[in-house]
Amino acid sequence: MKVSATPETMLLPEQDSGTARDAIGLGVAAGEGLNARHGTILTLEDINVSFDGFKALTNLTLYIGVGELRCIIGPNGAGKTTMMDVITGKTRPDNGVAYFGETYDLTEMSEYEIAQAGIGRKFQKPTVFEALSVFENLELAQKTGKSVWASLRAKLSGEQKDRIDEVLATIRLDGSRHRPAGLLSHGQKQFLEIGMLLVQDPHLLLLDEPVAGMTDAETEFTAELFRSLAGKHSLMVVEHDMGFVGSIADHVTVLHQGQVLAEGSLEDVQRDERVIEVYLGR
Ligand SMILES: Nc1ncnc2c1ncn2[C@@H]1O[C@H](COP(=O)(O)OP(=O)(O)OP(=O)(O)O)[C@@H](O)[C@H]1O
Ligand SMILES: [Mg+2]
Repeated sequence: MKVSATPETMLLPEQDSGTARDAIGLGVAAGEGLNARHGTILTLEDINVSFDGFKALTNLTLYIGVGELRCIIGPNGAGKTTMMDVITGKTRPDNGVAYFGETYDLTEMSEYEIAQAGIGRKFQKPTVFEALSVFENLELAQKTGKSVWASLRAKLSGEQKDRIDEVLATIRLDGSRHRPAGLLSHGQKQFLEIGMLLVQDPHLLLLDEPVAGMTDAETEFTAELFRSLAGKHSLMVVEHDMGFVGSIADHVTVLHQGQVLAEGSLEDVQRDERVIEVYLGR
């Protein structure tokens, strides 16, 4: 299976087609039931979505490799969020193929089942529980993300608490563990929400405009954080901030009018005349 979309949208030769291939075998072992032995964690082929006759996605084809950090860019209305809605089961495609690993047919699964299978999504607006402490938010996220048996077993072994401590350090909130989440800055709330995904150990993380509204320092930390998560997880990051995209992604997909317009390094896609036209022609 190829990592890039179609021959005409490929900007790089196959052997250079980004981190997907590089990452094969480097990521964590795909979890129970998730067969990603060919190195592809997400397969979207010929996906169509229409809203009252308006085509939001048109024959969208895209592959994400195990452990890859892929950035998705594209003008407003390109279909980026709709694509995430399809992956998470929020929107059903009219037709097309959507697989998580080789066994999970996403078009047949509920949103809950998809989350349980290991796809975590972060929306733009943080949705933390403001009255609860940072630690309690992580604890709650961990419980909802696991089966009752798994959470009981984890509690007995102390694994759960260890994982929360580990995530607190990763998102740099260990010093604020007892603070009510409502007192955190906007950026810290975003990090907490990422932490709430991480305690569920997702294989694939979907992040929609994660650095919107962040300070420069917070944006920089987010870049560092995502780079450290790649390999252990696969990440799909939608972002308009090109400085941020350039600092994290080896491989970028440009969406336009519900289709893949170009794929390659940020430099390559930014040199692509069709991409320039789409951005300047707005
Ligand atoms: N539920 C819906 N009903 C009708 N139209 C919709 C719906 N959801 C999305 N659309 C339309 O589909 C198109 C794609 O929207 P989408 O939100 O996926 O774009 P996007 O690439 O995420 O844009 P942005 O960068 O502004 O977030 C837009 O024209 C939008 O108006
Ligand atoms: Mg969007």
